[in-house]
Amino acid sequence: MAEYEPLPVTLPFPTPRQEVFDLLNGIWDRNWLTNNGPVLREFEATFTRTFGLEHVKVVGNGTVALQLAYQALCLEGEVITTPISYIATTSSLVWERCKPVFVDVLPSTLCLDPEAIEAAITDRTTAIVATHCYGLPCDVEAIQTIADKHGLKVVYDAAHAVGSTFKGRSLLSFGDYSTTSFHATKLLHAVEGGAIISANATLDRKIFLNRNFGHNGPEDFSGVGINGKMSEFHAAVGLVNMRHAGAILARRKQAHAWYDAALQGAAVEKLAAPEGTDWNCSYYPVLFDSEAALLRTFEVLAAHGITARRYFYPSLDTLDFVDPAVLPVAHDVTRRVACLPLMYQLTEADVARVAGIVCQHA
Ligand SMILES: Cc1ncc(COP(=O)(O)O)c(C=O)c1O
Repeated sequence: MAEYEPLPVTLPFPTPRQEVFDLLNGIWDRNWLTNNGPVLREFEATFTRTFGLEHVKVVGNGTVALQLAYQALCLEGEVITTPISYIATTSSLVWERCKPVFVDVLPSTLCLDPEAIEAAITDRTTAIVATHCYGLPCDVEAIQTIADKHGLKVVYDAAHAVGSTFKGRSLLSFGDYSTTSFHATKLLHAVEGGAIISANATLDRKIFLNRNFGHNGPEDFSGVGINGKMSEFHAAVGLVNMRHAGAILARRKQAHAWYDAALQGAAVEKLAAPEGTDWNCSYYPVLFDSEAALLRTFEVLAAHGITARRYFYPSLDTLDFVDPAVLPVAHDVTRRVACLPLMYQLTEADVARVAGIVCQHA
């Protein structure tokens, strides 16, 4: 059998090591390793400025970011949420003793359908938790209108949305809070990490306190906090990667253009970015005609050393710790959707290898 060069579905951005080493020297010299250190604050400030945000608090990961957001908003009872996201969006709700109520998604973006949200509101509903799937925008205007009408909080899981804008605004700027992830596989990473973004200074202050055990001062505590801090070492990687955010986003867009051209005529559908979106192109999702076509194509890709990912699968309402729901769109698309390899290091030749197989076997 032929030997093929392995092509994973993604790889971390290769952070320039000398730039990190330079920051590490400063960390060693200061011997300030964590607890709101200067590198963390510079990472936070650079991120805030670059994406035109009001308040950003960087934390240890994207899951604790969600938990801190739910806690700060005192979410309880029923929370209307999406069946198409990473498991953390749902499990963090259950962990915080909220009941996820799943509603269906729009076939164009796989983000929550505003009409379905409104139909599911009861007197126990306290919030809407929505994911900007693959960095494509939720219908933020319709969701805010519904939330205002019914007095609900809105949290966006924007783990995929760093660098995406809608009508010129960062997707991270919507909702009471937006959260994101700096996990190693994300478009912008800090090895592990996350952030909570808000336009409200009081909500931001809550996160500042709660991510550090509620410390107001050395012996002064404000409410129940937890340890959600990011270390100086992780912040150093994040800060260096921030310097390369423009190049990272440009490469993603280039890879999308290569795929778009190479997949002309393939029996797969693309999702549609709503008008007014500047998509960060953080993933390359495609919809196969059927689950059988997806599985058949995956087998050939695997035989050629290529990994694609069923992302997102399964529909989150099928997890064994939540109540199932009737969701015709989500249940259909989660069986047919997959993300093709995408990473900073991807070459046009890699795309040609993948697309050739998809064109022939999908
Ligand atoms: C949509 C989504 N939400 C939440 C998370 C959780 O982030 P983290 O891995 O940083 O905890 C991830 C990624 O892992 C994600 O893709």
